[in-house]
Amino acid sequence: MPEMVRQLAPASLLEVGVGTGLALGDFPYNACIVGIDLSADMLARASERAALLADHRSTLEQMNAERMRFPDASFDWVTVPYVLSVTPRPAELLRETRRVRKRGGTIMVLDHFYGSPAWWLLERAVRSAAAHAGFRSDFRYEEQILAYDWQVEWLEPGNLCGLPRPVVLRNRP
Ligand SMILES: C[S@@+](CC[C@H](N)C(=O)[O-])C[C@H]1O[C@@H](n2cnc3c(N)ncnc32)[C@H](O)[C@@H]1O
Repeated sequence: MPEMVRQLAPASLLEVGVGTGLALGDFPYNACIVGIDLSADMLARASERAALLADHRSTLEQMNAERMRFPDASFDWVTVPYVLSVTPRPAELLRETRRVRKRGGTIMVLDHFYGSPAWWLLERAVRSAAAHAGFRSDFRYEEQILAYDWQVEWLEPGNLCGLPRPVVLRNRP
């Protein structure tokens, strides 16, 4: 992902579910970066990490991505790394993601998608542990991504287990 973000050089970038801020240092230093997360603990750790990135302009906010407080069309690039399969209402989160993304902007979803034969077998074994951890192991690419009227610009071929798979999406004109 970092290479693609650098090539497109978005002026404004939103990371949904920024967590501990692991990816913040990968984003272009001249972009205006906003990270949101539900968890104050995660944001506190992300804030420590962001403070070490002196050349980056980032803002961190506690916010539910299923009901964002940003105006429509606020960001050139919205990245959603490993959040769709843990949020309670992924369809709401995707609707909001599309709303705050500028026309012609890009959404990148990174997640574990159910589907490959290997993951099908593995999923049976991990299902109850995954549910306990708040993560849906039967998260289907067809239902969560292909169900919407947008253009899949790029989908990384899955590995043997079919995960994780970054997906880059654009609105249809
Ligand atoms: C599996 S972690 C991924 C963290 C980070 N994106 C990464 O790749 O390291 C999922 C993160 O999404 C956050 N999250 C889950 N649902 C959310 C929501 N509805 N709104 C905002 N953040 C959410 C969690 O608090 C957690 O920090």
